[in-house]
Amino acid sequence: MIVAIDGPAATGKSTSAKLVAQNLGFTYLDTGAMYRCVTLSVLRHNIDLSNNSALTQLLSDLNIEFGQKNGDVSVWLNGENVSAEIRQADVTNHVSAVSALASVREALVRIQRQIAANQNCVLEGRDIGTIVFPDAEIKFFLVADDRVRAERRQLDLKALGEDKSIEALIADIRRRDKLDSERDHSPLRKAEDAIEVDTTQLTINEQVDFMVNKVKSLTIGN
Ligand code: DC
Repeated sequence: MIVAIDGPAATGKSTSAKLVAQNLGFTYLDTGAMYRCVTLSVLRHNIDLSNNSALTQLLSDLNIEFGQKNGDVSVWLNGENVSAEIRQADVTNHVSAVSALASVREALVRIQRQIAANQNCVLEGRDIGTIVFPDAEIKFFLVADDRVRAERRQLDLKALGEDKSIEALIADIRRRDKLDSERDHSPLRKAEDAIEVDTTQLTINEQVDFMVNKVKSLTIGN
């Protein structure tokens, strides 16, 4: 079974998707982390995004692995644990441009479909219900008020030792939403059959319970 969880940044997708997967005993796949790994690699190798051959080479050398320990998910890029580095501002500022490229999307979607083939999986991203798994058994689309999203992002950044004002974070979030939803390839949009969940007033537990109950009601045919 495939559970698709899409939506803009900082709507609580990652935290709730991880817990939904844990609760159901499904594999969890954070596809945003994969786009962040490619972005980190692009930045490290100083690759010009218009240089197709360099990009093709980078994608063919790419090996992304996920590890799970005590509820924490770590991401390994070509053998190196990059879980913290992919969350840093430099990667966040460039990830929309990198994830807008068709070659990057094709390569990562192929890997996502391979990982999720023949296993129960919760996939979290922007295009899971529309492009990666349009036939997913159940799809959620998370949304939330901009200010609340900025406050959540501020807390995440604090944990990484970064300080940023709410106003700057709202501007960042809006810029990224615009880029992600206006790009030509697989823009962020709600699938017609997705269940919209407004997380503005919800705690993480409430989001998780709502989604888990929906999945369970589907599997027992209610
Ligand atoms: O969820 P996140 O903030 O870690 O995602 C990082 C970026 O990757 C986001 O700005 C858009 C892109 N992304 C995407 O284009 N498609 C996905 N399935 C997941 C993420």
